[in-house]
Order: sequence, then structure tokens, then C-alpha cells
Amino acid sequence: MSEPMTLGEHGAERIARKLAAVLEARGIGPVERGPVDNTPNNEPGDPEFHRQRRADWALKRWQAATPYRYQNATSSHPGVHEWARKVAADPRSAGFLLLTGPFGTGKTHEAYGALRRIADAGPEKYEFIAITAPDMYALLRPGGSERGTEYEVQRLKRIPLLLIDDLGTEKITEFTEEATYRLLNERYNESLPTVITSNLEADSRDEKGVRRGPDLTTTLGARITDRLRQMTTVIGMDGPSRRGAA
Ligand SMILES: Nc1ncnc2c1ncn2[C@@H]1O[C@H](COP(=O)(O)OP(=O)(O)O)[C@@H](O)[C@H]1O
Ligand SMILES: [Mg+2]
Repeated sequence: MSEPMTLGEHGAERIARKLAAVLEARGIGPVERGPVDNTPNNEPGDPEFHRQRRADWALKRWQAATPYRYQNATSSHPGVHEWARKVAADPRSAGFLLLTGPFGTGKTHEAYGALRRIADAGPEKYEFIAITAPDMYALLRPGGSERGTEYEVQRLKRIPLLLIDDLGTEKITEFTEEATYRLLNERYNESLPTVITSNLEADSRDEKGVRRGPDLTTTLGARITDRLRQMTTVIGMDGPSRRGAA
């Protein structure tokens, strides 16, 4: 007959230790008493944990789609920050962002910086196309894309976030005007956030209504700038050219 098993002081401790080890291996920590700690702890299920994961993923996409020169781009303008904040919180509330100014004043830098800032916020959805206006028109011309121009038009119309760099530098033709109008009008109707950079200001008229020079209205047509006027944060970049310094 075996002896009835009893647990001495040591045996009980040993089992408690084993039990704690098993629970720890399964990720179940010891029960602690005391006040409940509600600070974000980066555990799955914690909103901050998920936001951070979305931000990491979005930043990878941003890096992959951003040219080498702008890999360190950060936006610095408060108006750009406000626009980016709106896009991250509710994309349809943000409207367009137009950055204007002479060449080399940092428009493209600011534009990529804005897109990065949106990524940093960890938005629910993050997908963008960045394209220069000349490349865009080349793509949209008959025969400009193997996938077909209609496919490309639809893609540019529907992409959640679009950057058109250097709008208005092209020689304007009926084709470019029509293509620009169709694209921007659709994005306007769907309230899809769109960043535009241009070396032309939107409207150069002075108080007396006299144009001081070519502007986006004379170059692209009033149909387009009427659209822009209604839902656009316009930011004029000036100062000396930063080219050569970088
Ligand atoms: N805030 C900035 N900090 C550092 N470099 C900048 C900044 N803004 C612009 N640059 C650099 O200056 C150069 C011109 O800027 P860019 O954005 O290309 O000008 P734009 O688009 O107005 O012609 C680029 O090489 C860019 O990387
Ligand atoms: Mg530029």
C-alpha cells in the first residue's frame, strides 16, 4: 500500500510555481489586485496598438511610392497639417490642397510631406497615386497605356488620395483641358482628397479684376478653377529657391 500523498510546505510551493510557469507560458499573468490600469498597453485589442500597426503599414506604402529625393520630406506648413489631419480623420471632409509658388520653393517636398503625415496618423485606408501632370497626360493619351486609357482614367478618378505634381506646366490643348476637367470634376463630386502643386497661382486677378499674369484659370480654364475654388485649401509657397541647397 502506498502512503497517502500529502503536500508539505515545499510541495505546495512547487505546484504553485509550476502552475504559474504554465500560465505564464500561455500568456496568462498572475492575478494582481489593486486599481485597474487603463493606460494603452499596445496589446491586441487596444485601439492605439491597431492605429500604430496601420501607421507602420501606411508608412511602408508611402516610402515605396515616394521618389528618392523626397524620402525625408516632412510638411511644415500649419495649413498643410490641418488638411492632412482632416484627411486622416474623415477623407471626404478635407477637399483639395493646392500648393502654389515658383519652382524650387518646396511644393513637391511639402506635398509628399502631407501624404506622409496622413500615413503617420494610421488612417483606416491608405492608398495614393503621385504623378506629374505631364506623365498623367502621357498616360491618358490614346495609346498611352497598355491597360487602356479608360482603365487609367478610372484608377485616377477613384484612388482614395491623389497627388498631381506640376499642374499647369504643360502646353494646354483641348485634350489636356478636358482630361483635367473630367478627372478633377469627378474627384470633386466624390469629395476625394487631392493634392495639386503648380507654379501658377489659382487666380492672379487683383482687387480691380485685372490679371497680373498667367494663372491656373487662364491656363486650365475657368471650369476647373471654379471647382478648385469651392473646396480647396490654397497655400502659397514663396521664398528663395531651395534647389542647389539640397
Ligand atoms: N523643408 C525642406 N527641407 C529640406 N529640403 C527641402 C525642403 N523643401 C524643399 N527641399 C528641397 O529643395 C529642393 C526643391 O524643393 P521642391 O519641393 O522640389 O520644390 P518645388 O516642387 O517647389 O519646385 C528639393 O531638392 C527638396 O528636396
Ligand atoms: Mg516640384
